[in-house]
Amino acid sequence: MFTLPANMQPDHFEWGCATSAFQIEGASREDGRLPSIWDDFCAQPGHIMDGSDGTLACDHYHRYAADIGALAELGFKHYRFSIAWPRVVKANNTLNTAGLDFYKRLLDTLDAHGIIPNATLFHWDLPSHLEGGWLNRDTAYRFADYAHLVAQHLGDRLPRVATLNEPWCCAFMGYDLGLFAPGERSREMALSAAHHLTLAHGLGVQAWRAEQAGTQLGIVLNPELCDPVSADPADVQAARLAECERNECFLNPLFGREWPQELLTQMGARVSDRWAEDAKICAQPLDFIGFNYYSRPIGRAPQTPDEAIRGYAYVPPAAGKELTDIGWEIYPDGLARIVSKLADGWPLPPIWITENGMADNTPVVDGVCDDERRCRYLQSHFASLSECIARGVDVRGYYLWSLLDNFEWAHGYSQRFGIVHVDFETQKRTYKKSALMMQALLRG
Ligand code: FCB
Repeated sequence: MFTLPANMQPDHFEWGCATSAFQIEGASREDGRLPSIWDDFCAQPGHIMDGSDGTLACDHYHRYAADIGALAELGFKHYRFSIAWPRVVKANNTLNTAGLDFYKRLLDTLDAHGIIPNATLFHWDLPSHLEGGWLNRDTAYRFADYAHLVAQHLGDRLPRVATLNEPWCCAFMGYDLGLFAPGERSREMALSAAHHLTLAHGLGVQAWRAEQAGTQLGIVLNPELCDPVSADPADVQAARLAECERNECFLNPLFGREWPQELLTQMGARVSDRWAEDAKICAQPLDFIGFNYYSRPIGRAPQTPDEAIRGYAYVPPAAGKELTDIGWEIYPDGLARIVSKLADGWPLPPIWITENGMADNTPVVDGVCDDERRCRYLQSHFASLSECIARGVDVRGYYLWSLLDNFEWAHGYSQRFGIVHVDFETQKRTYKKSALMMQALLRG
């Protein structure tokens, strides 16, 4: 029988679930919530695979009490969620009290169950009215205003706060690959967005600390482990560039290092004319860092003009590899490998795994969702993480993605990452086998 590794027991290691506002809350026009770039992106045909959007999602805005009750019943003591910027800040940059009240109710409910909150300020739902989005330097300053408002009104109730979730996705999926909001396709734009996001992080940390010095502050990244498809130097160099875009691009400025020169050379670009003055702001001391891990890509040298623009391409997982329903290779060793590699490469503060989980679309049959594959996925990733902790890497906790099936961005509702099944017609929740496994593991 599987039990939790000795170095990950709940008495000294934090176990939580993660969610994000746009993916679960719904209530997209209630209590003064403003449109976000994800509402706009969903409204344009062809962007979301099943043509859906976040208008209702899991209706968590109204069902939060029952959802947090489930989290508690399953034995989790920590909860990572995001605050929706367009819910708590009005277009004139002042507080929307009605929107903020939702998070007060949520925090009251978490308190009542003894669950510790871990909030993320930005999980991609940028207010639409911010002209130019992340291409506009001013957005970084608006983010700092927002961070300051949240610190003022909720700061004393939030022990740990991450500024951004996965800035790589926001910058490169949103402005280079065009697969996420706002759907742009330009490498230069992605670089500019990446820089403004890192700047926003730094300004946000400064603004928060000016108001609430006691909060632990950090950021959540999705670093990449990219093995080359062959030992050919061109493939090796391509895989290296892919990692550079994902890792160095964000970790370097966060830790006071220069932007990755190999990437800039490959692109023939510069970061920003104001890099020298911004560098100090980006490199604020961090109390923690969050890493999200799902899978690994395999890299190869570019073969087409489009690929040459990026300097790398990915190959599909080799035949025989086990894949999740969204098509990502299941590669548990990658979790230990990437965390160890980053801990060797940068002077990291304590680490939390802020997301890990899989798309497993097993349906509910006669009231039962037998997601055995997810149970195995989770167990193998716990074992991998445990090895990495045993090697001395300072990992303090793990958040499972996700508590609920939810709106999976460009995949709409077609991919289910939850340990609690959601029937999107009726909003009925059903514990999957994986939820019951976690309950047994956490409650001992
Ligand atoms: C991550 C996102 C999260 C979720 C998972 C599957 O990139 O942070 O919102 O969609 O992927």
